Amino acid sequence: MNEFELMVHLHRNNKRQGPGSDESTNLAITLAKIDREKSYRIADIGCGTGAQTMFLAKTLKGDIIAVDLFEEFLEKLKENSAKENTIANIKTLSASMDKLPFEKEEFDILWSEGAVYNIGFKNGINYWKEFLKPGGILAVSELSWTTNCRPKELEDFWTGEYAEMDTIAGKIRVLEEAGYKVLGHFILSDDCWLDNYYNPLLNSHKAFREKFGNNETAER
Ligand SMILES: C[S@@+](CC[C@H](N)C(=O)[O-])C[C@H]1O[C@@H](n2cnc3c(N)ncnc32)[C@H](O)[C@@H]1O
Repeated sequence: MNEFELMVHLHRNNKRQGPGSDESTNLAITLAKIDREKSYRIADIGCGTGAQTMFLAKTLKGDIIAVDLFEEFLEKLKENSAKENTIANIKTLSASMDKLPFEKEEFDILWSEGAVYNIGFKNGINYWKEFLKPGGILAVSELSWTTNCRPKELEDFWTGEYAEMDTIAGKIRVLEEAGYKVLGHFILSDDCWLDNYYNPLLNSHKAFREKFGNNETAER
């Protein structure tokens, strides 16, 4: 198994593959002044197994295309959505977020939680813009520094992991340079990281190591 397949294995039974919560998705809907009575065409890019897709589909009307590179995540999303009552329709699409088979100005809303980093924030938000109708909404979350004063060890680690690490002000500048008007922003709560992402991930380590413990890539 390669590294990607192992990552999918480790994450696929968890509700989320990144930090977030229904409350934060709801707050983003509110800040973007998305009308809950209107019908929208929405793409959820890098949806994983669809925690935020499900919340969007229970909250908004219209059609949601849930996009992810990995079919296994989309299969889980389909299983999960079959068990729930949604308002919006959900369709899945296995595609890379940097090669989307969409029409120009096809969507009212592009949603992407914890995923754009895979192709780089600047690249992603610039590329996706053409798929938005005039006046359309992009809701995106991105790993960012919340302060200008950071311990060097953390700075070195994260700059090594993600060259585009920047402050929120830096990310807003990139959005504005790409032609977006920023309607609002907020920082995810600690619970979004710990209760909803890291702790469930830690809990799945035991079974993962039992299954793949003799695999050097899995051990790393
Ligand atoms: C950190 S997870 C976030 C998933 C989900 N939005 C959530 O918050 O639970 C990043 C997601 O991006 C997907 N991904 C990675 N590279 C991708 C690519 N090139 N195109 C589409 N999806 C990709 C991964 O499979 C994963 O589901």
